[in-house]
Amino acid sequence: MVKGYLKYLNLDYKPTKNDLVCLFRFKPRKGKSKKEVAGAIASESSTGTWTDLSTISEKRQLKLGAKVFEIKGNYAKIAYPSELFEPGNMAQILSSIAGNIYGMSELETLRLEDIQWPKKIINSFKGPKFGINGVRKIVGVKKRPLAGTIVKPKLGLNEKEHAKVAYEAWMGGLDIVKDDENLTSKSFNEFKKRARETIKLKNKAEKETGEKKIYMANVTAETNEMIKRAEYLKELGNEYLMVDVLTVGWSALQTLRNENERLKLVLHGHRAMHAALTRNKEHGMSMLAIAQCSRLVGMDQLHIGTAVGKMEGEKKEIRTILDNIEKQRVPETKKTFSQNWGKMKPVFSVCSGGLHPGHIPALMKFFGNDIIIQAGGGAHGHPDGTRVGSVAVRQAIDAVMKNQSLKEYAKTHPELKKAIDKWGVYGE
Ligand code: 3PG
Ligand code: 3PG
Ligand code: MG
Repeated sequence: MVKGYLKYLNLDYKPTKNDLVCLFRFKPRKGKSKKEVAGAIASESSTGTWTDLSTISEKRQLKLGAKVFEIKGNYAKIAYPSELFEPGNMAQILSSIAGNIYGMSELETLRLEDIQWPKKIINSFKGPKFGINGVRKIVGVKKRPLAGTIVKPKLGLNEKEHAKVAYEAWMGGLDIVKDDENLTSKSFNEFKKRARETIKLKNKAEKETGEKKIYMANVTAETNEMIKRAEYLKELGNEYLMVDVLTVGWSALQTLRNENERLKLVLHGHRAMHAALTRNKEHGMSMLAIAQCSRLVGMDQLHIGTAVGKMEGEKKEIRTILDNIEKQRVPETKKTFSQNWGKMKPVFSVCSGGLHPGHIPALMKFFGNDIIIQAGGGAHGHPDGTRVGSVAVRQAIDAVMKNQSLKEYAKTHPELKKAIDKWGVYGE
């Protein structure tokens, strides 16, 4: 046993308000004790290494070091003095609490479940520029959920075809059209041309419907290129951009957020690749932790899962994520920390992936009205095409807002009827 690791155990310790606290789920390798392994996590993620050192006094090493203050079952709580972290540097914070430790030989598996952020660190990040209220003001929709679609197929259409699909969706009554996560700038669909064509038809749809329409253009690319694309959207008078938060990386995202002080675009965050980290419930990182980091960095909107669609994700987990990105104060639960987000604005949660009108009552019951509901296949796959499919999505929302069941509402709304005849009503 490495005695050094046990030094990082302090089961009487009470975290201070300046500590950052992590909840880890872990499984020791055969022959290793939980205490030793929890100590190893604390050590490697703070001031220690695999052996005792002569370069620092033990007193200083432990004062600044992380402290394991609770071990329950396969869970350990570890408190980190905030001096260990560089304010406003998400990459550095994650290199500590979600870095080397995943590869340690003492561990079979390790998952970062939850993070309790101290005020000092929260205030070092920008957070969302608009938040839910800011977004609602731009879209001009006060109460109901926002409704959107993703142009499908995700890849394959040229710029004009793309814009035409978007136009049909807006004309059908959707507020939002977005690019898919892997549509950036392609030989067959170039970013600038797509943006021009799509925004031209967005303006036309606004005139024709008298409603505000939103285009979330995907700027995901190398950081400088991403900023150029954001600037281009601004030049064209667009209000929004979309970015794949995980594949571009936290620092690129922070740079984009910094530039957004002058660009003032609503930032829509897609979570493509999250399942590489989140899917294995015993290893990696929770979507909750990813969502917290996204709020800190400053996404105005974030995909968090659907609780009903094709993507996996348990309801309880999604409820906690929702609380953590939308609320100012989050209460403690058996499995998660309390949190005070202070002045940080709330993030609009986005449900997307495998959704159709038949999911909408269940979604609104679970998430309330502060959600963005996006249906790709569930709009374009309607037997009568995109425009009618979009009408059906809006009708499903209207039905719930009027407290009517979809089946009842469908009696006088044939567009919705065709949609539920094809896909059914979730839960019925
Ligand atoms: C998400 O919530 O992560 C995405 O919306 C999933 O949708 P996709 O499978 O089409 O990427
Ligand atoms: C997304 O990126 O959010 C999706 O592509 C969802 O697409 P779907 O509604 O067809 O699953
Ligand atoms: Mg997609």
